[in-house]
Amino acid sequence: MIIIRKLKKKKQKQELEIIDLINNIKYYGTLRGTNAKLSLYKCKEEKDGNIKPIQPSKVMNILKTSKKVYLNNDEESLKLEDFLKQYNIKYNYIELCPFCLIKGRYNELTKNNRYKFYNQYICFDCAMEEVKHEVNINEEFIEKLLRRFKDVNKVIDLFVMKNPLDNPELTKYDILTGSEEDKIKNYTIDQLNIPYELKKIIKNRGIKELLPVQTLAVKGGLLDGKDLIITSATSSGKTLIGELAGIKNLKEGRGKLLFLVPLVALANQKYIEFKERYEKMGLTVSLRVGMGRLSEDKSELINTDINADIVVGTYEGIDFLVRSGKLRDVGTVVIDEIHSLNMEERGARLDGLIGRLRYLKNILKSDIKNNIQMIYLSATVGNPEELAKNLNANVVIYNGRPVPLERHIIFAKNEYNKLNLIKEIVKKEFNTKSKYGFRGQSLVFTYSRKRAEYISNFLNTKGIKSDYYHGGMEYKRRRMVEDNFLNQKIMCVVTTAALAAGVDFPASTVILESLAMGGDWLNPSEFQQMCGRAGRKGMHDMGKAYMLVEIGKKYHAKMGNTEDEVAFKLLSSEPEDVMVEYNEDEEMEQILASVSSIERYSKYLKLVNKNYNHNTNNNIKNNNYNISINKNELNKIPLIGKNHDLDYIVGKLNDYRMIKLYNNKINITRYGYATAISFLYPKDAELIRTNLNKQLVDLIALINPFENLYVPNSIKNKISKIIHTNIPTRFIDAFEIVKENISKITDKDLRDRVLPWVIEFEGMIEEDIIKYFSKYVLNLRINRKTPSQISKIIYENFNLQTYSGDIYSYLENTIKILDAIERIGGIYNKNMSNEARDFKEKISNPYRYNKKYHVKSKGKKVKREKKKNR
Ligand SMILES: Nc1ncnc2c1ncn2[C@@H]1O[C@H](COP(=O)(O)OP(=O)(O)OP(=O)(O)O)[C@@H](O)[C@H]1O
Ligand SMILES: [Mg+2]
Repeated sequence: MIIIRKLKKKKQKQELEIIDLINNIKYYGTLRGTNAKLSLYKCKEEKDGNIKPIQPSKVMNILKTSKKVYLNNDEESLKLEDFLKQYNIKYNYIELCPFCLIKGRYNELTKNNRYKFYNQYICFDCAMEEVKHEVNINEEFIEKLLRRFKDVNKVIDLFVMKNPLDNPELTKYDILTGSEEDKIKNYTIDQLNIPYELKKIIKNRGIKELLPVQTLAVKGGLLDGKDLIITSATSSGKTLIGELAGIKNLKEGRGKLLFLVPLVALANQKYIEFKERYEKMGLTVSLRVGMGRLSEDKSELINTDINADIVVGTYEGIDFLVRSGKLRDVGTVVIDEIHSLNMEERGARLDGLIGRLRYLKNILKSDIKNNIQMIYLSATVGNPEELAKNLNANVVIYNGRPVPLERHIIFAKNEYNKLNLIKEIVKKEFNTKSKYGFRGQSLVFTYSRKRAEYISNFLNTKGIKSDYYHGGMEYKRRRMVEDNFLNQKIMCVVTTAALAAGVDFPASTVILESLAMGGDWLNPSEFQQMCGRAGRKGMHDMGKAYMLVEIGKKYHAKMGNTEDEVAFKLLSSEPEDVMVEYNEDEEMEQILASVSSIERYSKYLKLVNKNYNHNTNNNIKNNNYNISINKNELNKIPLIGKNHDLDYIVGKLNDYRMIKLYNNKINITRYGYATAISFLYPKDAELIRTNLNKQLVDLIALINPFENLYVPNSIKNKISKIIHTNIPTRFIDAFEIVKENISKITDKDLRDRVLPWVIEFEGMIEEDIIKYFSKYVLNLRINRKTPSQISKIIYENFNLQTYSGDIYSYLENTIKILDAIERIGGIYNKNMSNEARDFKEKISNPYRYNKKYHVKSKGKKVKREKKKNR
């Protein structure tokens, strides 16, 4: 193979280069003569770096005898065509990268592998070089962008653009579409084999036909009682799949519908939704979340009846009923957000719950002629087939999206620049109406609650109607924001990434203000859930997701990658595999819970059979005899995450005296049962049991410390500036640093604000401070303060920020811990048990007590606090 090209116009001389790539020899020569007769002269040969003259005829010979001659396709070289034709040399064209030529390399460009740079094309490597020269950013990213745009200048522009919003074609990274939708012929509601009343209700919602994933589910056996795992994009209509099977089973006498979700906020939403929908049909709907026992909640009447037709609950709320053997007559179990199996805090418990429900499916089937249909829903599962196999279910996968999703990436210079971009995007969206007549609304995700509030306030000062929404807010306040969004009263909601899953804001646009959540980068599943929230079928023509990325940004020193690197990884990420693996504590909890469940249901089934002959009132509460179960029965509860030998775990539970083991027979002890229904790891139950002689508040602070104290932004920023280090937001982490640097804080006002910390907490270690505040919160609560009043008092007395939502959850958790103390105390320390019960009353509803209380405690620190509060 020979390449021939013309070098450059040098006066009148026409120098050319002939490259024999195979033998690695180059020839140079000059053309002379007129266009009519051109000939080669002054030829040189270059081989292994040596240059020597060569006869022109030899070079001509090489050209003439070579099978493949390629002429470089540039303007100058093309002038050689006459010359080649004169000597009857057959040739083809080749396009070489001009930048490579300068460096002495020969790199062929093809239609698919060339990159525009001003008015010429260059190869990929040279294009990369050019971009890297201009912007300092992750290489993979440059590569991806280059391959997409095929244009060096466009890629560079992306990073230096003044008005990115005016260039949607440039910021657009890709579009995820619902292309598969076309192939599926959707069922109409009338076609479905479901009760008439259900059809009516669905049609009243304005739904005439199923969405694709719903159709696929019906084809997969949804209405024939099959167990299914369904994976399809966010807001593709998975809820209705659960309802179709659940209400059908219910109406046909197969038992109630359980709808299980991971979060209380989500359960509330579904509860309200189902109530509005199905009470008309004469069905009862209840809510079981194992929370909501603070008197603040009682204003809204919530049905918590476990015998309702439809029970909406959190995993834990329902597992309580399963562990204690109270759940009956179930026809359908819908488990929403099944990818929660992947979450560290929830995975093991969800796995255990599913195992127990599947066990019930089997034992109840044979005894009361009931079959429970299990339906698992998720938007992000990387390994649906594997998961389906583990759950013994059929799988329904739909990869399309209800509306296309356009993903944009915009590079911002700093956080302030990000704010302005958000403002512009939100404004632009709200000023655009979809063909359905809805204005576009935005959902902004950011890394912390504080930042969410800050951004929302900023937007409001710029005339953008906005509100924030996060887990630190009380339930009623959140409901209000949801309503305002739904009625299009606000243009955008700023929230934390923690709420990415589930909560239903029908936004057209999602803006990822940062790719961090808390102290960590987002993981692919969180990222996909967030982007997936953009665009609603029937409301928007298309969804848009904007990632605002700061090149080189890290939110703290320990983060490995920079924001641009993370952006690239996230954009090209696939859904994560769902996997569970227990640690020893988790496995012990699950096995104990299963023992408890098996024991309760065995008793129940025995009674059902016995009472069948004697009486119809099968109330098991009066029959407190203890029955033993066979150890092998535990093997019938399928657990995906199981990791240890059953004998080992059972042996440990026996050592803890939570069960009694003899010859393969297991009896659960009262202590074991109390531990199981309190959702405690055995070691935490032991912590309670061995500390029952402590003061009650000390015990609560030990088990359930209040840690959510933050340094207000104004103080944090000022101190950070003075001492030249970024001080942490969490008070516990910041305190030591502030204390050490107190002498540097000379500004009187600032000093006055932080001095109370140093004086109050002098000599205390972290643990003591947390304990101090735990008691402080409890003390205010029993003195009839609401969570938001408590938050305010802490601010006034300590210049520390807390969220009323956190205080609310803290009190809710305290109630749960008090349940556990009451139960365990009931076995080992009756006084403590009674005290816990009374205290629980006061925490949940302090308003009915008139007397002023102080929590009992030893130690001088708290005495000082009492004085101060008087
Ligand atoms: N057949 C249908 N036709 C039109 N709209 C529908 C249909 N089925 C459901 N919807 C609507 O689609 C929206 C999204 O549904 P849904 O909340 O069930 O999504 P999802 O798949 O559960 O999403 P996520 O993964 O976010 O939980 C809802 O507002 C719902 O009313
Ligand atoms: Mg859903």
